[in-house]
Amino acid sequence: MKGVLICGGSGSRLKPLTDITNKSLLPVYDKPLILYPLSVMLDAGMRDIAVVTGTEHIDQIQSFLGNGTRFGCSFHYCIQKEPKGIAQALGLAETFVGDSSVCAILGDNIFFDNLSPVIKAFKDGAHLFLKEVDDPERFGVAVMTGNRVTEIEEKPADPKTNLAVTGCYLYDARCFDFIKSMKPSPRGELEITDVSRWYAKQGQGQATMLQKEWIDAGTFESLFKAAELVRSKK
Ligand code: G1P
Repeated sequence: MKGVLICGGSGSRLKPLTDITNKSLLPVYDKPLILYPLSVMLDAGMRDIAVVTGTEHIDQIQSFLGNGTRFGCSFHYCIQKEPKGIAQALGLAETFVGDSSVCAILGDNIFFDNLSPVIKAFKDGAHLFLKEVDDPERFGVAVMTGNRVTEIEEKPADPKTNLAVTGCYLYDARCFDFIKSMKPSPRGELEITDVSRWYAKQGQGQATMLQKEWIDAGTFESLFKAAELVRSKK
């Protein structure tokens, strides 16, 4: 399985911090944010990892991560020229991923559960990680029937459940053909939720419920909370 670390987007909710650097390099207590999603991949045994990011801060990300030797892995860099969505960012890693399955993780997500057993056992279709939250309208929201994901909506005004789709996506290599056929959403982006929904509609969307904390550190409040949580666990 190949890893794709997605650090695109303009980070508009964290301006002016993101005028200076990429969101994924912002500090969370004692480490840059990106090291948290990276550790999920490394813990699960992934050694080939593509990092997708915009043109503005790629130099900083590259000078921090390097070629991967320091982390015992190998990094490949892909540039997303315009922030046109998470699915578009994933699509840029197609050649790198080839026929393998892929674990895509958003560069601003922090997981406290151990995802390795599920990642290592993944074979085909899609596998998502869901978390019960109080503010589902901020996220992709899933509906489950038994152990299958049957419906997903991106940031619905009136969510059907409180199950947020977190930013770790396991897909087989068919996701790339689907991404090529996608049209931009009303906000002009290729939505990762549409990729997951494509699998769900074929009865191929599985999911694991997270038990511990999970944070999308894309706002001032959640970034602050992430730092407090990491500190409290030290
Ligand atoms: C993105 C996805 C959303 C998902 C979230 C998880 O939202 O579009 O479906 O629930 O990541 O972090 P964003 O944070 O880019 O608004």
